[in-house]
Amino acid sequence: MSHFNDASSGTALDFAESMISTALRTGATPDASLLRQTALNLPHLSEDPRKQLELILDAVRFFYVSGMPTIGVGVAEAAMEFAGASADAAAMSKAAMLLGLCSADTGNLPRAMEAYSSALVLATATQDCMQQAKIWHNLSGALVYCGLFREAVACVAKITELAEFSAEVKEQILPPALALTALCYLNLDELSAGIAAIERAVSISKPPVDAHSIQNRVLAENYYTRLLIEVSDFQGAITHARIARELANKSKSPRPDIQASVAEGLAEAFSGNLDVGISRLTATLERAKSLKLASREVLVALVKALEFAGRHDEALKYLQEMLTGQRKTAEANVLHHVKQHLVQLHASDSNSPIEDVGQVMRRMETRAEVLEGRVAKAEVIRQRQELFKARVEAMERLAVAAELRDDSTGEHSYRVGRMACLLAKEAGCDDETIFMIDIAARLHDVGKIGIPDGILLKPSGFNPSERLVMEMHAEIGADVLARSEIPHIKMAEEIARHHHERWDGRGYPAKIGGQEIPLAARITALADVYDALTHKRPYKQAWTVEASLSEILSLRGKHFDPELTDLFLALVSRLRREHRDLDYHLGEAARASPFIQARGKIWETLKLAKDEYQQQFQRTMDLQR
Ligand SMILES: [Fe+2]
Ligand SMILES: [Fe+2]
Repeated sequence: MSHFNDASSGTALDFAESMISTALRTGATPDASLLRQTALNLPHLSEDPRKQLELILDAVRFFYVSGMPTIGVGVAEAAMEFAGASADAAAMSKAAMLLGLCSADTGNLPRAMEAYSSALVLATATQDCMQQAKIWHNLSGALVYCGLFREAVACVAKITELAEFSAEVKEQILPPALALTALCYLNLDELSAGIAAIERAVSISKPPVDAHSIQNRVLAENYYTRLLIEVSDFQGAITHARIARELANKSKSPRPDIQASVAEGLAEAFSGNLDVGISRLTATLERAKSLKLASREVLVALVKALEFAGRHDEALKYLQEMLTGQRKTAEANVLHHVKQHLVQLHASDSNSPIEDVGQVMRRMETRAEVLEGRVAKAEVIRQRQELFKARVEAMERLAVAAELRDDSTGEHSYRVGRMACLLAKEAGCDDETIFMIDIAARLHDVGKIGIPDGILLKPSGFNPSERLVMEMHAEIGADVLARSEIPHIKMAEEIARHHHERWDGRGYPAKIGGQEIPLAARITALADVYDALTHKRPYKQAWTVEASLSEILSLRGKHFDPELTDLFLALVSRLRREHRDLDYHLGEAARASPFIQARGKIWETLKLAKDEYQQQFQRTMDLQR
């Protein structure tokens, strides 16, 4: 019998091997779902575990490079589990890194950071320099996407350390990593550091030979050009834009071509050839769109050039196009992941593949109602609450990720939820409401997914149009929650929409006042402002508790519901008596979150204090963010 088993699994392994290696070699597969199934079957064979592991990792690589990251995520998860069962730390680290890459590619950056964090721990244990450097590099890319430029720079510093020990790291990973640092400094407006980084990146780069290295180098020259424009070295900018163009011409891929055109257009516009530069950028935008490539960077360049030319109306038109694009992408991304999460959560309850999440949710709800007749009431409530928590989890993570630009610890949302729930209790709400407000208030700023870094992180005050963009986060958040198909999400939607309304009707977006503002939103407003005031943000220092409370008191009946304000002030003084470290007490749920834990591990390895790398700016209070 065992002989028969061996023979049959041997055949299956041979089949898998030829299928996966052909796919990797040719870069295509006739049947992605068969390949996926074959890969998922590998852990169940009993032929050659080492080979089975290598093959399943190869399958993930294939799905990643051929633009099927969603399938890649599923296979990478199976690979991690398989490697874990074989106690193979090196393979586990590889699987975790691939899971991170695929997750990041689907736009699930919190998930990617969690995976990179596990991959790092494993790679450190196996002392594999090259693997560690790769993970730091990928992680820094994810951090840049989240607008966490300081942390990305700190990751690259780790790669610099590793390059001392490994020629491979120095040659392959360090140059593109340093270029990424230059991009970070460009965003942080630290131009001399940016130029130093890009000079080093270019000086240690080998001449590019293949499509991949050409693309990296063109990107580096693009950053170089933009940095030189910022320091008004226009001649230098032209030189580097020209290098980008020559390299891009050697590649058949459209991406380097677009990158080079952006550099050229900017260099021309800023060195006196305004019209030439602007028309090149306009043409590049059309080309990017027709190729369905991300056009955000081209739009940013075009807006910059038009502003420089004093053509503000046109600049505004493109700026709006960019904002709409960002908003749409961000919303689609969140909705996709929330849907995936709901489907996965309820997969065991359904035999057929799920297309319509709403339908499944309704079926689940009906079943819950039927159950209610049978089980004790308290138990039903507990189960319903657990279910709600589980359903909201993906949304919560993405909301926390959007908040990281404001609060790099990610704990703000959780503290606001907790404080809001305590205030709801003081206000005499029923148990159900008290529970819901804790979870719902965590999502109050989920709409920040749609707000660009440049505005969210701006250290000085907003101009009127920037303020308008910033204020959009309330409606974006409410929209995305409403469209999420998560049952019982209504309260979260109300909080997201109305947490910036004021008692006197002078808030936004609906400009409603008094009791017209939903109670949950009035409660969250107090908790949110208090927490924002008492903590440091990239654009402001932390206020003392006393100063924050007297500010809130002075806004009683203006910004805040007067009765709730009284309850809130009494609540905070009681809590301060009861808990030596109130932040710690309110942040309990944050510490239980796997995402926050992963970030903690990354900081530990980077040896960063929690908010050490946030920029410090003195700034007057800004309640409007
Ligand atoms: Fe907000
Ligand atoms: Fe907030």
